[in-house]
Amino acid sequence: MRADAPIGVFDSGVGGLTVAREIMRQIPEERITYFGDTARVPYGSKSRETIVRYSRQIIRFLKTRGVKAIVVACNTASAFALEELRPEADIPIIGVVKPGARAAASATRNGRIGVIGTEGTIESGIYTQYLQRLCPDAQVVGKACPLFVSLVEEGWLKDEITTLVARRYLEELKKSDIDTLILGCTHYPLLRSTVAGIMGEGVTLVNPAYETAVSLRTLLRENNLANDGHHKNGENLYEFFVSDAAERFKRIAKSILPFDIMGIRQIQIEDY
Ligand code: DGL
Repeated sequence: MRADAPIGVFDSGVGGLTVAREIMRQIPEERITYFGDTARVPYGSKSRETIVRYSRQIIRFLKTRGVKAIVVACNTASAFALEELRPEADIPIIGVVKPGARAAASATRNGRIGVIGTEGTIESGIYTQYLQRLCPDAQVVGKACPLFVSLVEEGWLKDEITTLVARRYLEELKKSDIDTLILGCTHYPLLRSTVAGIMGEGVTLVNPAYETAVSLRTLLRENNLANDGHHKNGENLYEFFVSDAAERFKRIAKSILPFDIMGIRQIQIEDY
């Protein structure tokens, strides 16, 4: 496997761009092949079997693009599919949940940690498992916020309707004395200011993307896969694929990435 091969990053839609953006920031010399499963979003309300099947197809597709490692930039797929698919992938693969739990465990002072995510992620209990391994006395309060994904995919990042929905979802968590809140869905950092405004200054918001990019860098080094930083002049570092509605993806991506996506390709993911 060549060190100048791209890193595959995937999510159900635009949410994983919050992770891709962090990888671009921390490891700018790495190439990225991004896939957003826009035909089948949302993942959060689907069964484990379905998410495993979708993720397996995406990993197969990314491997046809010659990726050297994969980041599952989706909490739901990390919760449901990562461990099952890791042995099949035969390249290094990481998710966002473990790094997110690590970041929260070091941020909390009172051991009371909230997690917001999709129904799948919250019901899987995966954050609680990882957090209690890291700090056995941690008390974890989870809350599924399923409408957040649609609001983000709709591009309503700062909108009064989004604020109303967020208030409703977060009202229990506000009463639960947490001092740390994990944004346990990669779409949610896009609603960060809304969530922060409701939770107030006493609650630290954790975006697992930061810690994921740190873990990725370590993983690449350990596997002798880190890029040496040399690129041919003008070489495009990033490529984007979706399973549907490419123009729509491009439009929303504009408010997430620091550049406009030029080429974006639509593929038939069910063929993989
Ligand atoms: N962004 C994904 C996550 O982190 C999936 C959201 C969805 O499609 O429901 O869980």
